[in-house]
Amino acid sequence: MTSASRVRKAVIPAAGLGTRFLPATKAMPKEMLPVVDKPAIQYVVQEAVSAGLQDVLMITGRNKRALEDHFDRVPVTEQLLEAKGDAEKLSAVQHATDLGDIHYVRQGDPKGLGHAVLRAKTHVGNEPFAVLLGDDLIDERDELLTTMIEVQAKTGGSVVALIEVEPSQISSYGCADVEVIEGEGYVRIRQLVEKPSPEEAPSNLAIIGRYVLHPDVFQVLENTKPGRGNEIQLTDALQTLAARDGDGGGVYGVIFRGRRYDTGDKLSYLKAVVTLACDSEDLGPDLRSWLTSFTAHLPA
Ligand code: UTP
Repeated sequence: MTSASRVRKAVIPAAGLGTRFLPATKAMPKEMLPVVDKPAIQYVVQEAVSAGLQDVLMITGRNKRALEDHFDRVPVTEQLLEAKGDAEKLSAVQHATDLGDIHYVRQGDPKGLGHAVLRAKTHVGNEPFAVLLGDDLIDERDELLTTMIEVQAKTGGSVVALIEVEPSQISSYGCADVEVIEGEGYVRIRQLVEKPSPEEAPSNLAIIGRYVLHPDVFQVLENTKPGRGNEIQLTDALQTLAARDGDGGGVYGVIFRGRRYDTGDKLSYLKAVVTLACDSEDLGPDLRSWLTSFTAHLPA
């Protein structure tokens, strides 16, 4: 298989320490936090599978049990639901197991997102692959991953997802200096700057947790020294690829204007849960009417 082949594999790093969410993440990865009625990671696996990526590799950390258990069968619960004739719950429980072909590899020490992605090298081999971060949810009604896969096939390089943020927010993200390509729906990345101050930021375009990467990224990551926070940063490796011409070089950006929910810190997480619950068919109507009366009584 050549590096220009269609993307088949998804890598989901879930080995971070989740310090912003302690103590909830003391014994459980933050990717397992429930968003309405499913762990965040289930939305992400579903997104990968919907984009045609049946082969999913999770990079796990010290608390991998909960993740593996969630995507495994639960015979006792399933038998109980079957005996009760609760077909709806039975199908909800089985859904996670039937999603895709899920593999696991341990990261060992959490030495950064770049280090986590490098752990996927053997499983991925020499073909382009997607990376989806488990704390970034993309609304299933909006298209992103398939567009990124198309851009990867067209350019032969690597692709990141970008959103426009308020200039004051850019210091929470990796920021992209971009060049518009006439007549194309994507941009070329000139430079990436990790968490710049608003004054230093070259744009208001922030990198979010979806990537489609050329396999050359592995060799670059192997030679990437620890950067910010003494961690091996994926952004630093992408910066190297962005400066490279020819096969495997070049980094491109797809600007996403759809619905995205960040579940990586407490406030964003709460907003994500409320937004998605308000949208849900069964919970939405009651929750919306409760919220209306609740907010009417909040102190100004
Ligand atoms: P984050 O920086 O958001 O995750 O990494 P974190 O380190 O768990 O969070 P905080 O800042 O301490 O609260 C982005 C993604 O990369 C994964 C995380 O699990 C998350 O999905 N990651 C990060 C790893 O898999 N390994 C690492 O060493 C670091």
